[in-house]
Amino acid sequence: MIYPIVVYGDPVLKKPAEDIEKGSIDVKQLAEDMFETMYNASGVGLAGPQIGKSLRIFVVDGEPMDEENLKGFKKVFINPEIFDEEGDEWSFEEGCLSIPGIRAEVFRPEKLHIRYFDEDWNEHEEEYEGLAARIIQHEYDHIEGVLFTDHLTGLKRRLLKSKLTNISKGNVKADYRIAIPQKK
Ligand code: NI
Repeated sequence: MIYPIVVYGDPVLKKPAEDIEKGSIDVKQLAEDMFETMYNASGVGLAGPQIGKSLRIFVVDGEPMDEENLKGFKKVFINPEIFDEEGDEWSFEEGCLSIPGIRAEVFRPEKLHIRYFDEDWNEHEEEYEGLAARIIQHEYDHIEGVLFTDHLTGLKRRLLKSKLTNISKGNVKADYRIAIPQKK
């Protein structure tokens, strides 16, 4: 099932998401639907809040970026916890399915350590760097209620303000179905 993607301006994107209790929902089905939704929108990552579910889950598949670092990087992260970040901060131009048509350079640390459950509820502790770390950091931000635009300087954000306002009013074109923000 393909979900409409929630866009900038919807409060669900600004709210820290909640842990998923094992057995409370069918996480395999949810993950499958999230992959389908993500592929349909040509994304490399998608988090629960982006389909209107304030749950700590995100899926990634970096294969389309065609980078050595991302070979086979297709995963489901449930109740993840980044417990360490290290290395020099580096800049990369990020985009987001919830902020169509906007891209901007964001600085993030090079490496991270993360603990999470997969869709079979096996626990993992892993280390990532480079673009794989970058995708995880961006998606992890989503479940913390943070968007990449929150990392920009005030000046850069002011320059984007009218575009962001338009998105929040649904005045935006995307190649996939979006959910116009509902003020709650
Ligand atoms: Ni995003």
